Amino acid sequence: MTGQPWDASYRDGAAPWDVGRPQPAVVRLASEGGFAGTVLDAGCGTGENALHVASLGLPVLGVDVAETALAIARAKARDRGIEVEFAAADAFALERLGRRFSTVLDCGLFHTFDGSERPAYVASLASVTGHDGTLYVLCFSNEGPDTGPHPISQDELRSAFNPSTGWHAAAIEPDRVQTRYHDNGAPAWLATINRI
Ligand SMILES: C[S@@+](CC[C@H](N)C(=O)[O-])C[C@H]1O[C@@H](n2cnc3c(N)ncnc32)[C@H](O)[C@@H]1O
Repeated sequence: MTGQPWDASYRDGAAPWDVGRPQPAVVRLASEGGFAGTVLDAGCGTGENALHVASLGLPVLGVDVAETALAIARAKARDRGIEVEFAAADAFALERLGRRFSTVLDCGLFHTFDGSERPAYVASLASVTGHDGTLYVLCFSNEGPDTGPHPISQDELRSAFNPSTGWHAAAIEPDRVQTRYHDNGAPAWLATINRI
């Protein structure tokens, strides 16, 4: 949770997931009006997704434990003239932000946590998502050839996000996550989850 192991992956060139552009699934969601109100990008990395949503005029906060990633994200925002906020924060303690968000994005963070860590993360997300707010989880899927590391099943998503944890999984659709080592991305789930 110090962020040091994660930070190291940003110090020596682009990390495997750091594709240098927003994920197509996020671009599509944004073009469909999927982002509204105040937006949180949990585990924002070097910020491409947060920057894309902020470029549409929405107030966006990207948080990460990796200071190097945050420094890269802030430099991109400066260079591109995009107004967006990046801050160091632990996704397990989001309530410490003291803020509420209408839309929350998790692109590639949920699938890094093992089963024992998920309840605390899911509760942390719930603590900052306004009622009727929307959470998008884009994670590696366990279905299809050439799956990414830590693939997740639909059942795992549904058992993490359900009414007993304050969520309703409205849709879990097959999608792709682009990486630096898959030609056409890896199989993914795009879950649309509502805070109840
Ligand atoms: C697989 S990367 C995805 C980064 C970014 N969302 C993207 O799509 O490029 C996961 C990110 O989550 C961050 N992370 C891991 N554990 C975290 C935690 N407990 N709190 C906040 N960020 C965390 C890592 O530093 C890393 O930047």
